[in-house]
Amino acid sequence: MKVQLENITLAYGDAVAIKDLSIDIADGESLVLLGKSGCGKTSTMRCVAGLETPLSGRITIGDTVVFDSDRRVNVPPNKRNVGMVFQSYAVWPHRTIFDNVAFSLRQKKLPKAEIRARVTEVLDMVGLAEFAGRGASLLSGGQMQRVALARSLVMRPSVLLLDEPLSNLDARLRDRLRVELREIQQRMGLTCVYVTHDQSEALALADRIALMQNGRIVQIDRPEKIYDAPFSASIADFLGVSNIFPCTRVASRENLSVLGLTGHDVEVLSRSLPTEAGAAPPRVCIRPEDIRLATEPLPEGTNNWLGRVEVVSFQGSYVRYRVGLKGGPELDALVPRHGSALLPVGTPVWATAEPAAVQVLPAEVPA
Ligand SMILES: Nc1ncnc2c1ncn2[C@@H]1O[C@H](COP(=O)(O)OP(=O)(O)O)[C@@H](O)[C@H]1O
Ligand SMILES: [Mg+2]
Repeated sequence: MKVQLENITLAYGDAVAIKDLSIDIADGESLVLLGKSGCGKTSTMRCVAGLETPLSGRITIGDTVVFDSDRRVNVPPNKRNVGMVFQSYAVWPHRTIFDNVAFSLRQKKLPKAEIRARVTEVLDMVGLAEFAGRGASLLSGGQMQRVALARSLVMRPSVLLLDEPLSNLDARLRDRLRVELREIQQRMGLTCVYVTHDQSEALALADRIALMQNGRIVQIDRPEKIYDAPFSASIADFLGVSNIFPCTRVASRENLSVLGLTGHDVEVLSRSLPTEAGAAPPRVCIRPEDIRLATEPLPEGTNNWLGRVEVVSFQGSYVRYRVGLKGGPELDALVPRHGSALLPVGTPVWATAEPAAVQVLPAEVPA
């Protein structure tokens, strides 16, 4: 079901945690709230679940207004049909997996046959059908998280809220469960709000990402859109763009901006025009994978920075180089390996990036 948040403001005492936040989540959409710890992700989710009472605003689930500060509507959590999965598993260790998942259905006094059918269906979905009779204390972390998910799904929630559900798991399991979660969400057409501070998790799970900073949404769009065109350098930074430098525009040349890096003697060509925003200087942002390295000088008229390899880090199909530029900063370059030899530390190199790959962004999204 669709979920609508309109102008939600939430404070804990004097501290405002969410500022005038609005989001429209479509039916069947997976929306990921992405942002640093403390930016207000969990608070937003708790408002939807009815576990926090905003100062103002309105929340609608499907066609039902569950919160409206003006009309003094505040539907209690257990009447909102919202499922929640948290980082901590909250599984009863002394019950079987079946009983863990069946618990809420039994509370609702559903017929035995229906309970059995529904529990079996969701256990199958999360890949635990063969473990139904096993005690929950014997499960691994990944399996426990699946039980927690099954327990929410079995209630057939209108919207499923997941708050960093995979952060306690090791990296490989996290990768796998991420794909499984996405598969289940798409197959069931579930409306999901997924909270994470992990950008790769967000990119993998989202139909749309809402990027949060300081209690507000600073950018909301499809993952590839945000990845390709972040609104600010701080968003780019958060998404893993490691080459970010303050700059000033010094000239234009054949439809390109010529930028000087603050405090350095290096020229950068870019297709984008710096915006005249705020007091802070704009930032040059270049993804490490957009930097190429050559051992020969490059042709005139392109970005052409002479440097020296400072650090080499072999990463399998890629090599990560740190290159100290002559008269300039250090560049982080992620270079596909293609079976070629690694450039040793000390090698003189010419680094380049297409002017189209050089973004000039404001430091922050204006408030
Ligand atoms: N129960 C609470 N009492 C007081 N302050 C809180 C409480 N919960 C969260 N906060 C504060 O509200 C802000 C947002 O927190 P939270 O929503 O948990 O962020 P996130 O989930 O993005 O890490 C933070 O500054 C946090 O310290
Ligand atoms: Mg949180």
